[in-house]
Amino acid sequence: MRSLRTGLSLASLVTGLALLLGAPPAQAADLPLRDLADAKNKVIGTAVAGSKLTGTYAEIAAREFNAVTPENAMKWGSVEPTRGTYNWAEADRIVDFAEANGQQVRGHTLVWHSQNPSWLANGAWTAAELRQLMNSHIATTMGRYQGRLATWDVVNEAFNEDGTYRQSLWYNGLGTDYIAEALTAARAADPSAKLYINDYNVEGVNAKSTAMYNLVRSLKERGVPIDGVGLQAHLILGQVPATLQQNIQRFADLGVDVAITELDIRMTLPADSAKLAQQAADYRQVLNACVAVPRCVGATVWGFGDADSWVPSTFPGQGAATPYDEGYAPKPAYHAIAEALGGTTTPPTGACTATYSVVNQWNSGFTGQVRIACDGASLSSWKANWTYGAGQQVTQAWNATCTQSGTAVSCSNASYNGTVPDGGSVTFGFNASWTGSNPVPTVTLG
Ligand code: XIL
Repeated sequence: MRSLRTGLSLASLVTGLALLLGAPPAQAADLPLRDLADAKNKVIGTAVAGSKLTGTYAEIAAREFNAVTPENAMKWGSVEPTRGTYNWAEADRIVDFAEANGQQVRGHTLVWHSQNPSWLANGAWTAAELRQLMNSHIATTMGRYQGRLATWDVVNEAFNEDGTYRQSLWYNGLGTDYIAEALTAARAADPSAKLYINDYNVEGVNAKSTAMYNLVRSLKERGVPIDGVGLQAHLILGQVPATLQQNIQRFADLGVDVAITELDIRMTLPADSAKLAQQAADYRQVLNACVAVPRCVGATVWGFGDADSWVPSTFPGQGAATPYDEGYAPKPAYHAIAEALGGTTTPPTGACTATYSVVNQWNSGFTGQVRIACDGASLSSWKANWTYGAGQQVTQAWNATCTQSGTAVSCSNASYNGTVPDGGSVTFGFNASWTGSNPVPTVTLG
């Protein structure tokens, strides 16, 4: 004859399973940014470095964004460091990554005054040579990815702050028409790519953005191919221009698309909760402005994590400019972007949980208990339901009325313990029979 006790320790019998009732934890049901953006027919992109596309960085880039921009990999100095010797490895890697993850690619950038190879920047070129260099660079680079890139920043940063043309290699050698010529060459190189001109400090209505506006208007009048205007949006905390939406709208009214192409919002370090809240408000304002204008195709962040941002090395003392912190945890700015794209990030409203445990077990029977506890929520009556998976049968209960039909057990409160206040708990117990095994069921509250 077996002893009444099985010899198992009490601790090993006390197994519990809790199930949440009520609101799920915050963000549990929230969609990735790219799903929210897709539903609004918007782009949410990030700049990426090809060398970083592994691990957490790659996971977030793929999960959250429906577009990528090579941060440096397609710049002239990257692809042709020595004249006639091309290096496409990093750019290829980014395009392959994007295609594997169903993402658009924004090509960046073809004609710029910066990050050119020194052989180009330091050369003494005639206008004819410069024209040939520019056009063949466009043909070669766009041609390599023909049909695979959604957009190209063809000309980057053509203007000074006062709206005059920047005295660049291209302007000095070819005059203002280098822009029209570059766009024309770009259309020929990849007719399926949307062609943009892109600049910074053109987010609000100001002298520089007005110069850009006038340029786009004249390009359109002349029939020069131009599909969009890129507003880089390297912004300073608390300084989103009040005229952002109005500015986006005036470009849209010219018949071109608008994209926020390099969004980041920097702050004086160290970050604190007030600054992060302001930053979230700023990101929200930028995204809201874009969402409000149908021709604003979307926004790309210039790196999604603070550890990868160009800001700290470029603006001493500034940083924390992106939606994820240095450890890739989402910041308030992330949630602000999600909300602007139509997501909900409702904080948890609290929940009541039911925990089932076996407190004593012998050869044919056991004593069980269910504890119902509330935190941030309350109950005025309750039912605890579970299904037995191994033939267990409740024989008797206290502090609840339990019925069992087949494998389904339903226990409702007694007259005196239906109320479970916020922060409070009630416990009821029962005896039951078992044979073979006694697995712990999942309890749901109803
Ligand atoms: C920056 C990159 O983020 C840095 O890694 C690089 O050292 C310099 O360029 N405007 C642009 C981008 O169009 O190409 C620049 O990217 C940031 C400003």
